[in-house]
Amino acid sequence: MLLELRGVKKHFGGLKAVDGVDAGLAEGEILGLVGPNGAGKTTLFNTICGVYRPTAGEIYFAGRKISGLPPSTVAGLGIGRTFQISRVFKQMTVLENVLVPQGLLFYNQPWRSLWHRPGLAEAEKARRLLQRVGLAEKVGLTAAQLSLAEQRRLEIARALALKPKLLMLDEPCAGLSQEEIRAFVALVKELRQERLTMVLIEHNMAVAAELCDRIVVLSYGKKIAEGRPEEIQRDPAVIQAYLGEEEVERPVRASIR
Ligand SMILES: Nc1ncnc2c1ncn2[C@@H]1O[C@H](COP(=O)(O)OP(=O)(O)OP(=O)(O)O)[C@@H](O)[C@H]1O
Ligand SMILES: [Mg+2]
Repeated sequence: MLLELRGVKKHFGGLKAVDGVDAGLAEGEILGLVGPNGAGKTTLFNTICGVYRPTAGEIYFAGRKISGLPPSTVAGLGIGRTFQISRVFKQMTVLENVLVPQGLLFYNQPWRSLWHRPGLAEAEKARRLLQRVGLAEKVGLTAAQLSLAEQRRLEIARALALKPKLLMLDEPCAGLSQEEIRAFVALVKELRQERLTMVLIEHNMAVAAELCDRIVVLSYGKKIAEGRPEEIQRDPAVIQAYLGEEEVERPVRASIR
C-alpha cells in the first residue's frame, strides 16, 4: 500500500468532521473520494497533507508514519495536492508559479530569490511541465489572467514540480464547462499512464466513474461505502446519503451533481 489510513479522526470541538476512516491506496491506483457537502472530504485531505494533526488514528505513506508531520515534510516525501479553492500565486507569472515549488523562487521572501536566479535548464524543466498540462502558450501571463480551468491546470503543474508519488486533487472540475471537464479527464488519463497514483475528490459521479479504479464514499465523516464505481452507483447507502430516505428510488447517476 502506498497510502494507508487507520482509524483516522479529525474533530473540531464537538464536530466529527472525519470520524474513524480506514482506507488504503495501492501504487498506480486512482481512488475517488465522494460524499455530500460537509462529508469531511477536504478535511481528510488536509489531515493526510499534514495541515491538521489527526485527533486519533494513523496515516502511513510508503511505509512511513506521516501523521503529525508538518505539511512541508509531507510534501517533500511525495504527496502533492491541489486546493478546492484555487491557490495559485496570482501576481506571479505562470512560469514563476512552477519555479516556486522547485525551490527557485520564494513567494513571500522576494529577497531570497536574488541569491538564486533560475538558470535556463531550470526554466526549461518548468516549461516542460507547463506543456504537459496544456499551458505552454501561457507561460508569460500572470496567473490572475488565467481562466479557472487554466488555474486548476497550473496548480497541477505546481504539484507535479515536486515529483510526487501521490497527487491529490480537491474537486478539480467544480465550476468547469463540459468541454473543460472533458479536457481535464484526458489530462488525468495521461498522468495515469505515467503510473502516477491519485486521490480525486469529485462531485460529478460520471467523472469519478470514468477515472477512478475504486471509490470511497464519506458521509458525516464516516466511510459508508467503498468499491468499484459501478458498485458504488447502485449502493443503497450511497443513494440514501445523497438523496435522503424518501427519494431512494431516483437514479443516483442523474442526481449527484
Ligand atoms: N477548520 C474548521 N473548523 C471547524 N469546522 C470545520 C473546519 N473545516 C471544516 N469544518 C467542518 O467540517 C465538516 C466537513 O467539512 P469539509 O470541508 O471537510 O467537507 P467536504 O466534504 O469537503 O465538503 P464540500 O463538498 O462542501 O467541499 C463541515 O461540517 C465543516 O463545516
Ligand atoms: Mg471540500
